[in-house]
Amino acid sequence: MRVGIFDSGVGGLTVLRAVAEAMPGLDLIYLGDTARVPYGTRSPRTVIRYSLGLGSFLAGQGVDALVVACNTATTHALPALQRAGAEAGVRVFGVIEPGVTAALRVHERGAIAVLGTEGTVRGGAYQRALVQARPGLEVVGRACPLFVPLAEEGWLSGEVPELVASRYLSDLVGQIDTAILGCTHYPLLKEVIQRALPGVRLVDSATETAAALLQALGPQPGQGARVFQVTDHVERFGQTGAIFLGQEPSPVEWVDLPPPAGAFASCCPEGRF
Ligand code: DGL
Repeated sequence: MRVGIFDSGVGGLTVLRAVAEAMPGLDLIYLGDTARVPYGTRSPRTVIRYSLGLGSFLAGQGVDALVVACNTATTHALPALQRAGAEAGVRVFGVIEPGVTAALRVHERGAIAVLGTEGTVRGGAYQRALVQARPGLEVVGRACPLFVPLAEEGWLSGEVPELVASRYLSDLVGQIDTAILGCTHYPLLKEVIQRALPGVRLVDSATETAAALLQALGPQPGQGARVFQVTDHVERFGQTGAIFLGQEPSPVEWVDLPPPAGAFASCCPEGRF
């Protein structure tokens, strides 16, 4: 079985890593839109357009399923991608539903924070899904944009990330019992985030998504192929990717994205790109 995983850049490798660990036999194609990263500060409309382009490119490579590793893309574009996927015969999975399901399972007293990019927090998809599933929950969103460059620099511990985490999160201590790491990069900073939020249960959307995929697709033993495709800067992706994957991603290919085709073109907002 062949699965396409896409992200705005390098961060989705946390999801690929979890998926590859859970289902080593899957053939995985990773597509990182390194030419247009970050998505976290872009408008919903732009994120939807870019995401449909990435989904279309992967669907054109004959994948059986698509995983939207990027939380910002899941927030804004999952409904459009799922409509296109349904027409094209490709199952589409996002990272929000698994994160929400896990948070509902582990929370103690219904006070949950969603940590993510500006787009993910403003888009509110995590917050809506939580409250729809369990009305009465107290849900707070918190954008932590500096976590993204810190993770990409490999500054995963020490005074700088500790200070940043404390500035973003210290007022939540005592207010929440669970926090969802709603961004591809945040699992790398889990220890720092945990120190800033003592006693709070952290939910990692990447590993939860891999578990949900395992449940949906069934066990995939053996050893599948891995291919990494990026829209810019192959060498940089290799170097930064090693921080996220634990080893240098290889082989990495540069790809020139064509305009979306078929269902992925017609599901674009306002019908235009
Ligand atoms: N991949 C993005 C996410 O999970 C973070 C990086 C970006 O802003 O593009 O939301």
